[in-house]
Formats: sequence, C-alpha cells, structure tokens
Amino acid sequence: MTQSMPSKYSPMQRLLHWTIALLIFFNLLFPNGMNAWHYVVRQGGKPSADDVSAANIHAYVGIAVLVLAMLRLGVRFIQGVPDEAANEPALFRIAARLAHVALYVFIFAMPLSGIAAYYFGVELLGSVHADILKVMLWALIVAHVAGALAHQFYWKTDVLRRMTIG
Ligand code: HEM
Ligand code: HEM
Repeated sequence: MTQSMPSKYSPMQRLLHWTIALLIFFNLLFPNGMNAWHYVVRQGGKPSADDVSAANIHAYVGIAVLVLAMLRLGVRFIQGVPDEAANEPALFRIAARLAHVALYVFIFAMPLSGIAAYYFGVELLGSVHADILKVMLWALIVAHVAGALAHQFYWKTDVLRRMTIG
C-alpha cells in the first residue's frame, strides 16, 4: 500500500468511516420511500411528486456513500492504514482483512447497483441490490461489529480506540 505504516487511522479516515456507516444504516433501515416509488413504477403507474422526493432521499444518500467511498479509498492510498492488531491468531487477522476488503466492495457495489436500477431501469441489478446485496451487507456488518468487539474485549487490542478517539 504506502511507504510507512501509521499507528492509527487519521481523523479524516475516522470521520469517513463513521459518516459512511451512518449513511449506510439510514438506507438499510429506511428504504421505504424508494420501495414505494419502485412499486408504483413496476405497476406501470406514474409516481407522485412525493414518491419521487422520498425515493430521491434514498438515491442521494446512496450516492453520497459512493462519493465518500471514492474519497476514502484515495485517502487510504495516500495515508495508509495501521497494521492489523498483532495480539490475535493469524486466522482472525486474515478474516479481518478479508472482511474489510468485502466492506469496501459493498460501499461501491450497493450504490452502483442502485443507480443502475433507478436511473437506467436495469431491473435485474435492482433485484440484486434489494434482495442479495442487502442481505450480504447486513451479514458482513454483523460479522464486522462482532469482530471489532472480539478484538477489543477478548484479545484486548485497541481497535475501537483507533477507529474512534484515535
Ligand atoms: C456500514 C457500516 C460499516 C462499514 C461499511 C465499515 C467498514 C469498515 C472498513 C472498510 C474498515 C477497514 C478500514 C481500512 O482499513 O481502511 C473498518 C474498520 C473498522 N470498523 Fe467499520 N464499518 C462499518 C460499521 C462499523 C461499526 C458499526 C463498528 C462498531 C463496532 C465498526 C468498527 C470498526 C473498527 C473498530 C475498525 C478498525 C479495525 C482495525 O483497526 O483494524 N465499523 N470498517
Ligand atoms: C449505501 C447505499 C445503499 C444502501 C445500503 C441501499 C439499501 C437498500 C435497501 C435496504 C433497499 C430495500 C430492499 C428491500 O426491498 O428490502 C433498497 C432498494 C432500492 N434501492 Fe437502495 N441502497 C443504497 C443505495 C442506492 C442508490 C444510490 C440508489 C439509486 C440511485 C438505490 C436505489 C434503490 C432501488 C431502485 C431500490 C428498489 C429495488 C427493488 O426493489 O428492486 N439504492 N436499497
């Protein structure tokens, strides 16, 4: 990745991590406006202005995730990231690394598949977005949070600290 390995995530990286997480949770928990819009369109109806505004909130929040994800990858490339915490078994370090790669893939794949469905009418990607990726992302987040808590409290590493107060 980069030349020197920092000992913690930079304030910018921490801000990006939590902003993206917040926006993703919003779209995962409150997709109803987008679903209502999609239902009307699928029935061949004309969505009302309210339907469109509600759907646009989901779309813009998701597009914000995409833009921030690009920024995040750029920052990661320039600043690097701290090495995986050293105190736990190698298998778990590999698992953490794989989970992080997968999370990166999802913060791109989720908005891109949504955009394909919403703006370009690619229904197949809409279904992938809403039925498959959504479930995989939830599973990944649960594993990620469980992993973070295990690292913190079982192996007593400082992972939570380096992604929060630094
Ligand atoms: C949608 C939600 C989330 C996404 C997409 C996400 C994504 C990521 C990614 C990609 C990394 C690796 C960062 C890097 O090395 O560049 C990371 C690290 C981290 N995340 Fe999350 N995360 C989410 C939610 C959470 C939540 C709810 C927690 C709370 C426990 C959390 C705790 C952490 C911690 C502690 C690290 C640092 C791990 C380390 O130092 O090795 N994340 N997250
Ligand atoms: C982080 C980004 C995103 C997340 C986490 C997310 C999450 C979700 C969720 C949970 C649903 C409802 C699935 C269900 O029926 O239970 C959904 C549906 C949908 N989202 Fe997103 N979304 C994101 C970004 C976007 C973007 C950027 C767009 C478009 C610009 C979009 C367009 C859609 C569409 C069209 C549907 C309905 C698809 C269908 O039912 O076939 N999403 N999304």
